[in-house]
Amino acid sequence: MPERQTIIEPFKIKVVEPLPQLTRAERARELEAAGWNLFLVPARRVTFDFLTDSGTTAMSAAQWAAMMIADESYAGSRSFEALEATVRRVTGFRYIIPTHQGRAAEHLLFSMLVRPGSIVPSNNHFDTTRANIEQLGGEAVDLVCAEARDARSAAPFKGNLDVERLDELCRRERDRIPLGMITITNNAGGGQPVSLANLRAVAEVYRRYDIPFIIDACRFAENAWFIKRREPENAKRAVRAIAREVFDLADGCMMSGKKDGMVNIGGFIALRSDAWVPRLRSGLILTEGFPTYGGMAARDMEAFAVGIDEALEEPYLAYREAVAAYVASGLERIGMPVMQPPGAHAVYLDAGALLPDVPPASYPGQALVASLYLIAGVRGCEVGSVMFGKHLAGTFVPAARELVRLAFPRRVYTQAHMDYVIEATAEVVAGRGDLRGMRIVEEPPFLRHFTAKFAPL
Ligand code: F0G
Repeated sequence: MPERQTIIEPFKIKVVEPLPQLTRAERARELEAAGWNLFLVPARRVTFDFLTDSGTTAMSAAQWAAMMIADESYAGSRSFEALEATVRRVTGFRYIIPTHQGRAAEHLLFSMLVRPGSIVPSNNHFDTTRANIEQLGGEAVDLVCAEARDARSAAPFKGNLDVERLDELCRRERDRIPLGMITITNNAGGGQPVSLANLRAVAEVYRRYDIPFIIDACRFAENAWFIKRREPENAKRAVRAIAREVFDLADGCMMSGKKDGMVNIGGFIALRSDAWVPRLRSGLILTEGFPTYGGMAARDMEAFAVGIDEALEEPYLAYREAVAAYVASGLERIGMPVMQPPGAHAVYLDAGALLPDVPPASYPGQALVASLYLIAGVRGCEVGSVMFGKHLAGTFVPAARELVRLAFPRRVYTQAHMDYVIEATAEVVAGRGDLRGMRIVEEPPFLRHFTAKFAPL
């Protein structure tokens, strides 16, 4: 294609699904019925579902076609061979342990390695990764770089891990660290990428202390794309070559296929050495399934094998970056503060900055989430004091930031959809003076963001 300014959706559409369209009054009733918690609103009542980019991908014709020829044999399925061959080719890792999704891979690997008192460093652990470590009595330590703390800084690699602090931690606590990690891209830190230079430095530290290095690779293709786009010495390299070099630095990876695997379910652990494999396979048989399907149907493995390669196509990645950049700049233009720079899988709205008069204890992020739904039909996810705030000895300890994540399902929405969202969000911004925050009227003891009920103040 000739070079043009406009980045187009690199697909045409063969199968469509109706878009739920509601009146504002209907949405107001839904909010009321759901206790103002968007997790409790039925998806059929949501017009633009930006709750997550996980498992929400639209599959390609090639993926659907591959599903039709899947081999559903219990043992030795040809579809496992297809997935294994793709993962080996893309990552260079020889041993593939299939699981039904990312957190099952985490649970399996950590159950083998993490003991009470263990420490597992990363840039930022994703919630399920942290919970799986803590559940075994371990400590998940976040060592993201200092630039990550400034939401407005446009630093290109705010997912980087602070190598000095990592070195210091490894020196002090070597014997307590059964494995070292890094998450690419850094989802819990705003979807920010990690540079190749940083990945090399991190790998060097882990190698020096003889600590196995395992990458949380669920958005590895988007991360490789940002290395190409933002790290000048890699500008001319193929994304595949960059991705492969990243994997070459590590001893293995864990992957949720629901992101850059372009599938609705699936995951794996991939390892260079067979040292852990017999024990992992025993654990797998006990909890997920036989080693040639893990927790997946063969048709899922076929779609996954095709999806990994599709995620590495550069026109697709250019479009993926363009979606987030387009929404971020459109929202900034209408006065919505957005975390900078945008990543690829989501934009993060700064509810604290939009609603400076709503204190963290009144959950500005939740107020924004509710308003986005009411006015624009958008479902986002609060990533602030509802999710992370705590009551310690009677005092409220807020989250570090009051954010709302709008995560973009892959290949699902068009630019016209995004234009509508930006236009409707202008009304949210205009009406911000009316938002007073929320109070919690009902909450469970754990993971309250999923089921708590709220009322507007
Ligand atoms: N690691 C990262 C970085 C993730 O973002 C996720 C899931 C997982 C691991 C767990 O994978 O869902 O397949 O079990 N993130 C989703 C999200 C849920 O919305 O960000 P899973």
